[in-house]
Amino acid sequence: MRRRERRFAMLLPFEILICLLLAAAMASAQSARENAASNDATSKIPTVRFANGVGQILVHGKPFLILGGELGNSSSGTAAQADEILPKLAKMHFNTVLAPVAWAEIEPTEGHFDFSILDHWIDVARQHDMHIVILWFGSWKNAFSEYTPEWVKVDTTRFPRAISAEGLPTEILSTFGSETMRCDSRAFAALMRHVREKDAERQTVLMVQVENEMGFLGRGGRDRSAAANQAFENPVPATLVQSLKKNRLKMAPELAANFNPEGRTWKEMFGAPADEAFMAWHYGIYVNQVMEAGKKEYALPMYMNAQLPAPGERPGDYPSGGPNPYNLDIYRAAAPAADFYAPDIYWPNFDYWVQRYKAAGNPAFIPEARLESGAANALYAYGEGLAFGFSPFDVDSLPLVENKPEAHPTMGDVYGTLSKLSNEILQAQQEHKIRGLALHVSSLRPRQTVSLGGYLFQATLSRSWASNALATNDGAMMILQTGANEFYVVGNGLSVTFFRDPDIDDQVAGIAGIERLSSNNGTWQVVGELNGDQSDQGRRLLMAAHEMNVYRVKLYSYKRDPAAR
Ligand code: DGJ
Repeated sequence: MRRRERRFAMLLPFEILICLLLAAAMASAQSARENAASNDATSKIPTVRFANGVGQILVHGKPFLILGGELGNSSSGTAAQADEILPKLAKMHFNTVLAPVAWAEIEPTEGHFDFSILDHWIDVARQHDMHIVILWFGSWKNAFSEYTPEWVKVDTTRFPRAISAEGLPTEILSTFGSETMRCDSRAFAALMRHVREKDAERQTVLMVQVENEMGFLGRGGRDRSAAANQAFENPVPATLVQSLKKNRLKMAPELAANFNPEGRTWKEMFGAPADEAFMAWHYGIYVNQVMEAGKKEYALPMYMNAQLPAPGERPGDYPSGGPNPYNLDIYRAAAPAADFYAPDIYWPNFDYWVQRYKAAGNPAFIPEARLESGAANALYAYGEGLAFGFSPFDVDSLPLVENKPEAHPTMGDVYGTLSKLSNEILQAQQEHKIRGLALHVSSLRPRQTVSLGGYLFQATLSRSWASNALATNDGAMMILQTGANEFYVVGNGLSVTFFRDPDIDDQVAGIAGIERLSSNNGTWQVVGELNGDQSDQGRRLLMAAHEMNVYRVKLYSYKRDPAAR
């Protein structure tokens, strides 16, 4: 046997199928991209573009800022829930909901599809001028396979389970189930066909997240089924090897630390993280196949989300092989159909994870985040992360309280303000004339500084000027440069001091004036000035702690007295 034939013969039938599918997928991804491009030019379906470090979603051909919120897992399983939830979120200025659509919901009997619940959600969303991002809970949701139809769950021969290190079947479908992949793809294709027919013109549905926080949970972090074990001993697929070698300089440090380009098997090439790398590849090619099937019907932007490892967690404590930053180099090779990858950020170091995904070349979109710190982190996400969308989790649990005396701004307050500034934010993101930061009461950092337009903005959490009491609330701000020395500062709870940026010159900065603005039918009007105690006698911007405000700050600079040195 010649060498190439021998290598092929060593592969399992499933792996041969995967190689063929991958080759076909790459060709069809190319044509899907070309279709998407021509769609963009003609019917302008929603598209995500990424240029100059900034991601944007175009809806009807125009940039759109997603002021999003993800629904609880059991909040969109009936049509009636839409009538209750969407009007409430619309009142709180959410313009987009991320809503689960379960495989079990649309295909309760094999081959028979029912989209009536989704259709009602789309209809109600339209009544409230809202959009939907569909979360496809197909083969996996948080590693497990709970949202699959009963006919999938009961047939463990046709739809094999991943096997644990203890040799037991799990509640996780194996990535090696060729029928599982085929049937998930078929259901997803039916869903996308239906969305195209119902919605291509209106574009209520913007994007689709395909699966949810997949990865193998359990000791060892790898499926130990016979098919998986056999594949694990085989050579690493050439497509992956070539891609990793080509992009080696940009590789995630966690993968690079162990990477041996001369290795042949998974263990030889990836070392300690071999099990996770192996799972990442297999989840990647599986989901790519599902995405491809969907994009053939309707090429909306599609992404995957990741559960992020906590410090000290090992693969398998968190879903091993999910699209976390360590694995993105593998996903890029496995899943050319994916438009981007996105982090679910529940950890306190929100900024770190936003920047990790950006550094890996993703347009910034945060599909899940902790609701309690959502108001502050939203300003960081749009201002500093240049996100085109942010979406705290479980937003339907928020109470609708109007005119309430809250101690701090709510998500509704933040989105209410940002909705009036969407165009300015989108423009400033494009021009890199925007910054943002969030300080949390629990944060170790007492102050943070950002630079914009020749000035440094140094922020600490506000104390009351009257009592000097310690800050009890988070504080955050987004700064947009609107002129040579003029800035809109949006936020709450911070005390901000201004300096000239020493990288620009060594002059001294001063405050020319601070105004509080309010939007009246799209025009910003001055509703107050901040002087005296409210500006620390003209030396600082003291932002109200309990409400969101838009401040217009005019600065100036002057030369130091050289003799004073
Ligand atoms: C992350 C998942 O993606 C969500 O569906 C939900 O289960 C949250 N975790 C709960 O915290």
